[in-house]
Amino acid sequence: MGIQGPKTAEWFNRGNKALVNGVSSGFRYWGDDDTMVIDRGEGAHIYDMDGNRYIDYQLGFGPIILGHGYKPVADAVGEAAARGTVFAMTTALEIEAALAMRDAVPWLDALRFTNTGTEATMHAIRLARAVTGRDLIVKFEGAYHGAHDYVGYSTAGAPIGNLGNRRSPVPFEVSSGVPSTIRDYIRIAHFNDLEFMEKLFKNDGHRIAGIIVEPALGNVFGLMPDDGYMEGLRAITEEWGSMLMFDEVKTGFRLGLGGAAEYMGIVPDIGMYAKSMGNGFPIAAVGGREEIMSAWAEGGVMQAGTYSGNSVGAAATVATIAALSTGAPYERITKTGTALMVGLEKILAEQSMESSIIGHPSMFSIFLGDGELKNYRDTARHDEDLYSEIIFGMIRRGVMPVDDAKEPWFISSAHSDEDVAETLMAFEEALIEAKA
Ligand SMILES: Cc1ncc(COP(=O)(O)O)c(C=O)c1O
Repeated sequence: MGIQGPKTAEWFNRGNKALVNGVSSGFRYWGDDDTMVIDRGEGAHIYDMDGNRYIDYQLGFGPIILGHGYKPVADAVGEAAARGTVFAMTTALEIEAALAMRDAVPWLDALRFTNTGTEATMHAIRLARAVTGRDLIVKFEGAYHGAHDYVGYSTAGAPIGNLGNRRSPVPFEVSSGVPSTIRDYIRIAHFNDLEFMEKLFKNDGHRIAGIIVEPALGNVFGLMPDDGYMEGLRAITEEWGSMLMFDEVKTGFRLGLGGAAEYMGIVPDIGMYAKSMGNGFPIAAVGGREEIMSAWAEGGVMQAGTYSGNSVGAAATVATIAALSTGAPYERITKTGTALMVGLEKILAEQSMESSIIGHPSMFSIFLGDGELKNYRDTARHDEDLYSEIIFGMIRRGVMPVDDAKEPWFISSAHSDEDVAETLMAFEEALIEAKA
């Protein structure tokens, strides 16, 4: 029996007649009996079509940092929508949003808005290639940077057995329909392995336009870099004249107002932002140092988008950053996330489980395996089936993380102490049940 109640199942079947698999994004399909249809969200809670309430740790795969339906953002968006949304010209709201971004992330000299993270990474990669006059991009095993062709290799969905020898990893294509020559422009690296990166640059450095990296692997348990690793990437890219590109689509405005760059004390060359900058409205941005971003001004490097900088996204950005800038949401998120991480660890220890809690209080996950998790290949030691069974047990008890541990639990400022207590109780019960 799946997790759909009768009305949710009825809506799923209805949706399945028009939407492929009943979803608008492949990751949302959990099977015909387990794909949810959601009625609404309120703060940290979501409600399915049967009226069942869940404490939400998916938060739309990360964006809902202030909670669902957060009123100041919803009001700002409503007002903006009523005044018109796109004009094929810049708006004052768009300028306010850009200035707010720059105040929040001071290393960004200049930026442009896009609508999704996929668009942002696509434009960032093109910019890096244009500025350096080189073709190769380095990406990490397990990292996801969106749905476009240039990054569809060795992502978190890739079977580890297909990734080649550790010393010479092969770019594993996660989708058909991509021209085979695209793989020639990608080099695959292992997170937290500086020696590997040094060798890769010794072999090909003069051809490498840049490294694209999620500073904390938001698609691999929220894995954080070892001390000194990001500094190492910064030094290598500087030595070889390559771009260090921080994909902050998940970490931006989540690890703190200045994202991972601020949290880790690193100034990259190009940054990509989306998700938490708009609390759930479609808005994203690519920004960076003046001498790089000016390539767009000089012409010859194409960047465009009908909806880029639209008033709905811009209003959401201004209102979200205003709320985050008070610092209060981050205090709340750190308190909630830390309480959950500590509580989960204690329950796992009491149940004698080989495990560790990975990540940052605002986005973390549970590794059910022995030893340390340092990069994507280490996830082979994680007990995927047991994890999924525990999560389905939690969902039946009204708590909703993603059933795949690679996708972290996301915390919003709307999660309460009661939510934490309820979550830990559901986790303990579901763990005991799954082990039995
Ligand atoms: C790190 C990262 N980059 C890029 C993307 C793509 O963003 P979008 O889904 O908005 O296209 C995602 C999506 O989850 C992501 O996690």
